[in-house]
Amino acid sequence: MNFIKVDSYEKLSNMAANIIADVVKNKENAVLGLATGSSPLGTYARLIEKYNAGELDFKNVTSVNLDEYVGLDGSNDQSYRYFMNKNLFKHINIDINKTFVPSGCTDDLKSEGEAYDKMIEDLGGIDIQLLGIGLDGHIGFNEPDEFFTKETHVVKLDDSTIEANSRFFASKDDVPREAITMGMYSIMQAKKVLLIANGKNKKEIVKKAFFGPITPYVPASILQLHKDVTVIYSEN
Ligand code: F6R
Repeated sequence: MNFIKVDSYEKLSNMAANIIADVVKNKENAVLGLATGSSPLGTYARLIEKYNAGELDFKNVTSVNLDEYVGLDGSNDQSYRYFMNKNLFKHINIDINKTFVPSGCTDDLKSEGEAYDKMIEDLGGIDIQLLGIGLDGHIGFNEPDEFFTKETHVVKLDDSTIEANSRFFASKDDVPREAITMGMYSIMQAKKVLLIANGKNKKEIVKKAFFGPITPYVPASILQLHKDVTVIYSEN
């Protein structure tokens, strides 16, 4: 594991964007695994700058996102599809038809999960997976549990996650209680994993995840078994 501590969110974002940019430049038809939340906002802003400066071309890139709230469709401004369009896709030349976010709005979420995993497999897997980390150690929405779940599946969100994410909603009651998330198989099969975390409140969970025992009660700890993982942490 490559654990890098930096002293600002700006440095974290620059470094993360450079790592992703290298994959886009060097891998033909790169498949980017993307995340939502606050952590990647700076990284996406840097990638947009690189695109505007003519350094990056996303024409042949495919993206697969980690997760989506159950019950929110892409027109809902709290959905992760909406977030991705707003904060990245509409600013770069990626083909929107090659951007994938699991749907939380189908009648059959089990089939949706199976189809999502098959689609990732058919793409040849993920070249680089960008991750944030929840205060409870979740990656994607793989919440602490007795076991790791392999496939894309529906999860009940932990109260701490609902609480943390309520900052984006009018009230805590408006936060969906369930989400559909990529499972550990596709994440662990990614050729590279890049996890970014910032803030003093993430310090403890980052320590547990990367320097503590590997346990499904701290889902991110499974990344200790990945052969190419970079963690960038900034306390500020
Ligand atoms: C989002 C996701 C989540 C977030 C995590 C941290 O797609 O998969 O695991 O990465 O909840 O969120 P922030 O970055 O808002 O602290």
